[in-house]
Amino acid sequence: MTKDTMIAVIGGSGIYDIDGLDGAEWVSVETPWGTPSDQILTGTLDGVKMAFLPRHGRGHVHSPTEVPYRANIDALKRLGVTDVFSVSACGSFRENMAPGDFVIVDQFIDRTFAREKSFFGTGCVAHVSVAHPTCERLSDAAEAAARDAGITVHRGGTYLCMEGPQFSSVAESKMYRESWGCDVIGMTNMPEAKLAREAELCYASIAMVTDYDSWHPDHGAVDITEILATLQGNSSNGRELVRRLPGILGAERAPCPHGCDRALEYAIMTAPE
Ligand code: ADE
Repeated sequence: MTKDTMIAVIGGSGIYDIDGLDGAEWVSVETPWGTPSDQILTGTLDGVKMAFLPRHGRGHVHSPTEVPYRANIDALKRLGVTDVFSVSACGSFRENMAPGDFVIVDQFIDRTFAREKSFFGTGCVAHVSVAHPTCERLSDAAEAAARDAGITVHRGGTYLCMEGPQFSSVAESKMYRESWGCDVIGMTNMPEAKLAREAELCYASIAMVTDYDSWHPDHGAVDITEILATLQGNSSNGRELVRRLPGILGAERAPCPHGCDRALEYAIMTAPE
């Protein structure tokens, strides 16, 4: 059985809308978890329904800690979204993942501690698996779109999600890279990916490298000026990538071959009343 595809893009630093939407309209959505980061831009691209949510809000008003992650994911679900692409800036722990490159992340280490991380709790307890927190089908689409757009893209990588808002110390940066085997670092993909799984939404993460964090002997400490300079190039590449997604995924969607859209089937512990 197929249903309509609806692609959501959650745009990070540097990406605050998407180009070329037919019938573009910013819509307000309220949720039991509060108000999302901003209104959501809806429309169609190549005949496929699209939604765009600026993660930090237009004007970049929510810090990574303050992003209303539950409201964001729930609002997308309420709009009928099936597939979520997260686009975000990141630092790199690998020489070959250079500023300007994109990484299709497939694993996370969650070091955040000041965020609501679940839709479940008192009254209804559920434990979904996030062993494989991203969807292979969407990651394939993101990789294909990036290659077609001529972007240098790395398939697979472990993303360390830190609380922020400060960047890492040199000691932390070296530990994440050398002992923990992380490839990139950012502040926003968690709990977003966990919540998308609880909401039974397919989720892929496109991390755009802006800097070498603080471990690299030939690069100094990270600073926002460097990040913003790289983001300008990254965001036009990000837009090119997004423009290709509807053509790759198509307007009709079969059940996810990896089961992302059935994640709750064996996850709920609480007995029905
Ligand atoms: N976002 C972009 N660069 C980053 C870094 N080095 N650490 C955390 N978040 C980032």
